[in-house]
Amino acid sequence: MTITTSVTTMLGIKHPLVQGGMMWVGRPELVAAISNAGGLGMLTALIWPTAEDLREQIAHTRALTDKPFGVNLTLLPVGRAPDYPALRKVIVESGIRIVETAGHSPHEHIADLKAHGVTVIHKCTSVRHALSAQKMGADIVTIDGFECAGHPGEDDVGGIVLIPAAVDALSIPVLGCGGFADGRGLAAALALGAQGITMGTRFCATVEAPIHDAVKQVILSNDERDTRLILRGFKNTARVAYTSVSAKVVELSARPDVDFEMLRPYVAGEHGRRALETGDITQGLVWASQAQGLIHDVPTCADLIARMMAQAEAVMRGNAGLIG
Ligand SMILES: Cc1cc2nc3c(=O)[nH]c(=O)nc-3n(C[C@H](O)[C@H](O)[C@H](O)COP(=O)(O)O)c2cc1C
Repeated sequence: MTITTSVTTMLGIKHPLVQGGMMWVGRPELVAAISNAGGLGMLTALIWPTAEDLREQIAHTRALTDKPFGVNLTLLPVGRAPDYPALRKVIVESGIRIVETAGHSPHEHIADLKAHGVTVIHKCTSVRHALSAQKMGADIVTIDGFECAGHPGEDDVGGIVLIPAAVDALSIPVLGCGGFADGRGLAAALALGAQGITMGTRFCATVEAPIHDAVKQVILSNDERDTRLILRGFKNTARVAYTSVSAKVVELSARPDVDFEMLRPYVAGEHGRRALETGDITQGLVWASQAQGLIHDVPTCADLIARMMAQAEAVMRGNAGLIG
C-alpha cells in the first residue's frame, strides 16, 4: 500500500512527506537524501550569501538526486532584505518546479513564481494568512501549528485544531506541520484532512543532517517540554530548543530595559550556525520543536521515511492498537 494524495500527485513524489526549509540545515546532502527516499527535500535559499551561490547549490543537489526537490524562500520581516528578485530569477532559470515560501507579504513572490509555472507551497501559521495565500495563487498551504520549531506566529493554536480548521476553510490542499515525527503523526494529519506533512526537527536528527552530532544528541535527550519561546515581546516569536542560550534570552527579554539590539548577540543567525557546526550549543540558538519528545534515534532519511510510511499504513489499515 502506498499513500497517494493530491500533494504527492501535484509534486510528483512517492510519499506525502515534505522537509520544511531550515536555515543552515537544508543543504544538498540532506535535501537529496529526503528526495531519494521518496519525500520532498527543500534546499534553503538564504543559507548562501548570493543568488549565484544558490545556483551552484541547486546544481550540486541535482548531482545527488534525480528526484523532485524544492527551494525554500524565507521572507524576512526585519533586517537587510536579501536580493529576492535575483533569488527568484535563479530559481526559475535553474528549472526548480517547487518553492516553499514562508513569512511576511508573500504576494509579489507568489505572483512571480506562479507566472513562471512554479508550484508554490506557502507556509503560514493561521487560517487567515492561509486564505490570503490561496487568494494570491498559492497551490498548497503548509499550516504550521504552535508545536513547531521556528516561528509559530502569535495565535498559539496547536495543529490538532489548526489543521482541520485550515482544511475546512481552504479549497487548495493543506500540509500539516509542527510537532510531527513519526507515522502515527502522518496518519493523524491525514485523518484531519491534510494531504501530507512537513517536518523540520525530525529531519535534523538523521544521519544526513549536516549538523554536529552533539546537536543531534541534544535533540534526542530533550523531551517535549524542552523548548522555549523567544522574541514574543517583538511579535516575532520563535520556538527553539531549551539550552543555556535560550534560557538567557528568555531571562533578558523579561527585563523592561532590554531592546532587540541587546538580544542580537544571542539570536543572530551566525551564532546559531556556529552552534550547529561546532556542536557547542553555548554558541547560539538551536531551533527545535516539541517533536523532540518523539525523537529517540538518528536513522538515515531512507530508514526514517520507510519506517514512517509502514507505521502510517498500519494505522490506516486499522492496526493502530498494535503500534507501540
Ligand atoms: C533548525 C531549523 C531551522 C529552520 N529554519 C527555517 C527557515 O529558515 N525558514 C522556514 O521557513 N522555516 C524554518 N524552520 C521551520 C521548519 O521549516 C518547519 O516549519 C518546522 O520545523 C516544523 O516544525 P517541526 O520542527 O516540529 O517539524 C526551521 C526549523 C528548524 C528545526
